[in-house]
Order: sequence, then C-alpha cells, then structure tokens
Amino acid sequence: MEIKLFTGNAHPDLARRVAEALGVPLGKAVVDRFPDGEVRVRLLESVRGDDVYLIQPTSPPVNDHLMELLLLADAARRSSAGRINAVIPYFGYARQDKQTQGREPVSAKLVANLLETVGVHRVIAIDLHAPQIQGFFDIPVDHLSAVRLFARYLQEKGYTENGVVVSPDAGRAEEARRLSERLGLPLAMLAKRRHGPKDTSVTYVIGEVAGKRPLIIDDIVSTGGTIRRGVEALLLAGALPEMVVMATHPVLVGEARENLSHPAIREVIFTDTIPLRDGGYTVLSTAELLAQAIRHVHTNQSVSALI
Ligand code: R5P
Repeated sequence: MEIKLFTGNAHPDLARRVAEALGVPLGKAVVDRFPDGEVRVRLLESVRGDDVYLIQPTSPPVNDHLMELLLLADAARRSSAGRINAVIPYFGYARQDKQTQGREPVSAKLVANLLETVGVHRVIAIDLHAPQIQGFFDIPVDHLSAVRLFARYLQEKGYTENGVVVSPDAGRAEEARRLSERLGLPLAMLAKRRHGPKDTSVTYVIGEVAGKRPLIIDDIVSTGGTIRRGVEALLLAGALPEMVVMATHPVLVGEARENLSHPAIREVIFTDTIPLRDGGYTVLSTAELLAQAIRHVHTNQSVSALI
C-alpha cells in the first residue's frame, strides 16, 4: 500500500509541511465550491488500494472544513482506497461532548458518527478537547499531544526557572500534570466556572503560585476570556507578572487579541494545528509529529511512543 496525502482548504500549509517531512508529494485534488456554495471535491489521481491520509483540521469555518473532509473521505472510499485515515490536527465541535443542560446535542459524537459513516478507518488528532472523544469512535483514534513540543521550547527559553505549571481549569489538569512532571515543576490549577460561551470566572487558585512564574497550558484559546481571567486570578494570588501562555489550538475569535495582550503575559505560544493570521505569537510546528504518526501507522508501529 502506498501513502497518499490529500488536503482540503483548512490548512494547506500544514499539509505541505507534513508532506515534506514525509518525503511524499501532496496528492492532486479539486476542493472548491459549486456556484450555489456546495462543496465540490474530485481526487485527480488514483487511490485504488492506497493508504490515504486526509489532512484537514476542522477549524473555522468549521462546517465548511468538516464537509470538505467528509466529501474527501467519501471520494476516497468510492475510489477503492485501501485505508482512509482522517488526520484532524484540530478536532472542532469537541466542546459539546456531553449534554450540560437539557435538550442539547452531543456534537462531538455526531461528528464521530459522520466520519465513520463516510468510511474513515482511523483518526489521528492532537489534543482533543476531551480525551473521552476517543471513545465516541468505534475505529482507532491516535490521540497525539503537544506537551513535548511545549516542554522543549520552555526549556530552551529558560522559562522553567521559578516556574509553576498552571491548568486554567479542571479539564486541562492531566496535560498540565504531564507538563509539570516533564519539567520537574510544581503544579497549580484554577477552579473555573463557565457562565456562558464567552463568560467565565475563576473561583479559586489551587496550589502555591506566589512569587512564581506561571506557565499556563490550555488546549484552545477561543475568545481568550479563560486566559485573561486566569491571569488576573494568578496576579491576585501573588504570581509574578511574567507569565507564559501556551495552547495547542489558536482558534482566536472575538476579543482574543486584546485578552492575550495582558501586560502580565510575557509570551504566547501556539502550535500550527490551525492557520494563524495574526502575528506576535510564537508558533511551534506539529508537522514532524504528524509525519511521524503517519509513518508509524503506515508501517504498523506503535504510536504511543510519540505521545
Ligand atoms: C475549555 O474548557 C477549554 O479548555 C478552553 O479553556 C476554552 O475553550 C477557551 O475558551 P475561551 O478562550 O473563549 O475562554
């Protein structure tokens, strides 16, 4: 089985970087729109019997990018691909992973169903918003993490001195713990309450942060409200105004830039799972991680070693 890589319009630069790292050319495909706005897809080369990897984060505009991915998978299945792997560096629709109030959908489960229905055999994702999303699928899901990338960068920059790793809410506690262990630093956590899609507050700071430099790790920065309130709570608890913020997925909507421009934040670090149009942030590439995962899957080697 040959490796074949394709991408939609969500992040062609990342797909090219993965292709370069693998030494495999990106497959040719048309992914555009019919005059009425419907997504049009056509693979311009044979995938018969091939090991196909569709590289497409479901980043905003999420519906368009998700639909492109589904249609690419459908095209590959109908063209007799041997295996179809959806490489979804940022998995959108992940934040509705349960019914928090009555009469809500579980969007993450619906997306999992859709991907399986179109014939995807495997998903490769980075830092799913909720790890249990892996269990929403009945196919293998290789769940990669950016923690190693962040740890290496923080060490190179010397940010670990007098540092404390901070989880901005209970949901990130596990990643924060892994980062703190990797760096040999203490761990703190904020007790966050969400009052609405854009409104959060911090009720407690759990752990010792006074006189320390917080290294805040989250999966997503969307409006940046979580980070801004977290920074304010940490300052009130006596933390140093030299904080480092890192998040895997720079969704960045609304007032994100203002919220991230807080004077107590020294550096904001993202990965390239989503294209960044704004400057002023540090971006660590996930291309090599994704390429390694593809190589391991293709040759039936363990992917756990990469996580
Ligand atoms: C929430 O549980 C996530 O881990 C992020 O903290 C959240 O999605 C960030 O959203 P925002 O930037 O809008 O506060």
